[in-house]
Amino acid sequence: MTKPELGFIHQYEPGNDDAPVLLMLHGTGGDEHDLLPLGRAILPGASLLSPRGKVLEQGMPRFFRRLSVGVFDVEDVKLRTQELADFIVAAAAKYQFTTDRVIAVGYSNGANIAASLLLMRPEVLSGAVLLRATVPLRVAPPPDLRGKRVLLSEARNDMYVPHDQAVELESTLRTAGAEVQTLWIAPTHALEQAELAPIQKWLTKR
Ligand code: MLT
Repeated sequence: MTKPELGFIHQYEPGNDDAPVLLMLHGTGGDEHDLLPLGRAILPGASLLSPRGKVLEQGMPRFFRRLSVGVFDVEDVKLRTQELADFIVAAAAKYQFTTDRVIAVGYSNGANIAASLLLMRPEVLSGAVLLRATVPLRVAPPPDLRGKRVLLSEARNDMYVPHDQAVELESTLRTAGAEVQTLWIAPTHALEQAELAPIQKWLTKR
């Protein structure tokens, strides 16, 4: 059932004790239920933690405020990133997992807040699958992402993610020490069936 505790309405589905905890982060207009089927499909046996973004844009949940398409409210990105990181820590205590098991799986706006978590609060994640992420904000000094694994899945023609921003994000994460792999399989912003197999493979190669 949907749980309003810990500061975020969320779903939690326990999995195997030694399996990752997938932090499922929906896109604009989604909710905590949206990505549960994806999480079950890409890593059976994983625990799933799926919060609903708290910002509303014309009634559509998001994880941070934007001023217009592709123009983010950076102060809100920072605030919401801290809130989400604190939620992950609180959820880890409540549901009895350690944050070194948490892998974010975010789509679109959810991928952008996951990228922001890596840049601002990397200690709450062991890695991330970023589906159609762009640069959420720029931070200095860069975080230390050694030991973190990141799979980026970007699209060749994405109206929300300019090609140069996808490349900048990849380079920022790699320069900070993350082990980054990037897929360019998808034609557009929409998720593709063909992405699932490489994502499954990446998640099981641990
Ligand atoms: C965003 O965070 O605004 C994304 O890039 C696009 C979207 O979620 O609609």
